[in-house]
Amino acid sequence: MNERRERSDGFPSDFLWGCSTASYQIEGSTTADGRGVSIWDTFSKTPGKVAGGMTGDVACDSYVKWKEDIALLKGLGVDSYRYSIAWPRIQPRGSGKPLQAGLDHYKRFADALGQAGIESAVTLYHWDLPQALEDAGGWPVRDTALRFAEYADLVYRALGDRVGRWFTLNEPWCAAFLGYELGYHAPGRASRADAYKAVHHLLLAHGLAVKALRATGLAAPIGIVLNAMTPRPASRSAADLEAAEGASVQGTALWLDPIYARGYPAAHLAAQGATMPVLPGDLETISAPIDFLGINYYSERAVAADSASPDPALEAAGWHDKTEMGWDIVPEGLYRMLRTIAKRWPAKALYVTENGAAFPDSIGEGGRIRDRERIDYIRSHVAACRRAIAEGVPLKGYYLWSLMDNFEWAHGYSKRFGLVHVDPATGSRSIKDSYYFYRDLAAGHEP
Ligand code: FCB
Repeated sequence: MNERRERSDGFPSDFLWGCSTASYQIEGSTTADGRGVSIWDTFSKTPGKVAGGMTGDVACDSYVKWKEDIALLKGLGVDSYRYSIAWPRIQPRGSGKPLQAGLDHYKRFADALGQAGIESAVTLYHWDLPQALEDAGGWPVRDTALRFAEYADLVYRALGDRVGRWFTLNEPWCAAFLGYELGYHAPGRASRADAYKAVHHLLLAHGLAVKALRATGLAAPIGIVLNAMTPRPASRSAADLEAAEGASVQGTALWLDPIYARGYPAAHLAAQGATMPVLPGDLETISAPIDFLGINYYSERAVAADSASPDPALEAAGWHDKTEMGWDIVPEGLYRMLRTIAKRWPAKALYVTENGAAFPDSIGEGGRIRDRERIDYIRSHVAACRRAIAEGVPLKGYYLWSLMDNFEWAHGYSKRFGLVHVDPATGSRSIKDSYYFYRDLAAGHEP
């Protein structure tokens, strides 16, 4: 465990510094030890879905090289590592008896992490749904939520004493809308009605998983991770203010209102023509009390009213530099988002569960990787966190995305977010300058 010494940089001494990854993005070994097929295996092998036809078959080879990953985390000096469990390694077809080999893998991993003094912060669902459940209807059907609760229970019972905190779902907005309406992510469907049904069942899955944890008697805190969207209005006109508010609902209130026992935002559902498959008791389950909210933040958009379009808002032109994803670099947006969330949906604790940037890093002379832009990105976003804390936002930790370059979903390996460079051809890892920067930051030295 790291010492909790007083820091000179304005962060509380018990602030948690961490790194995030996700199973499908790093593990590889997609057929090892009885692992079942996930929707991302199927999707990435469907021609035209992922850049260059790339898949997560090998990824960072972390299922094999996990000791190297732990050594990197230890060198970084982080307090906590947020990784996800691959559901198809625990239940290859998404139901029934657990696979011992899968559980053993994560037990070994969590034990070794603990021995390195690093907390396990486990995401139960980071998008790798067992394909058998998708074949039975996927998130638009209720049964998937019930299966998720069983899977969560199995994981709690097997790994509970090794895990320091739990995240039920990662960015369910992406799972629902990128997966079922826009088709950019697995399973690649294109139905708005299905996407909204998926929203309800993802939230139900979350609530059931919270209740299941409480039923085990485990004391570790549990929460959910959202990619909350809080675009800023491009002007002070009433129309633009309204447009920005409207554009924020699908990423924030649609999830947080039901979690906070305020029900679904009715005007938004009506405007989208969506009906939610709510059964008696569901809203109560969804609003089971949680211990914290996790917020992933990468960018902020400016939006303006658009009277000609049925959408509430139009993306406005801007001036910010962009990352390689084409995302505006807006550190103040993180500050604004934290303030907005803390005010409208007060939580006991908030965590930035992902923040980071892709840049086209290359290995330079002497093997050094001078990723100055990533360092600037982290520095400015961490400063935004510090400002929020100074103003009373209960932000308790920051997780950087990501420990290492990995399979960036539909972009394959073409976008690098890591503190550590990974050569997708050989799996070899090389430390970037930003790794040392983040090490110094976590150690408490004013960056
Ligand atoms: C988030 C995802 C994460 C990663 C980053 C860049 O939306 O949660 O897996 O791909 O974006």
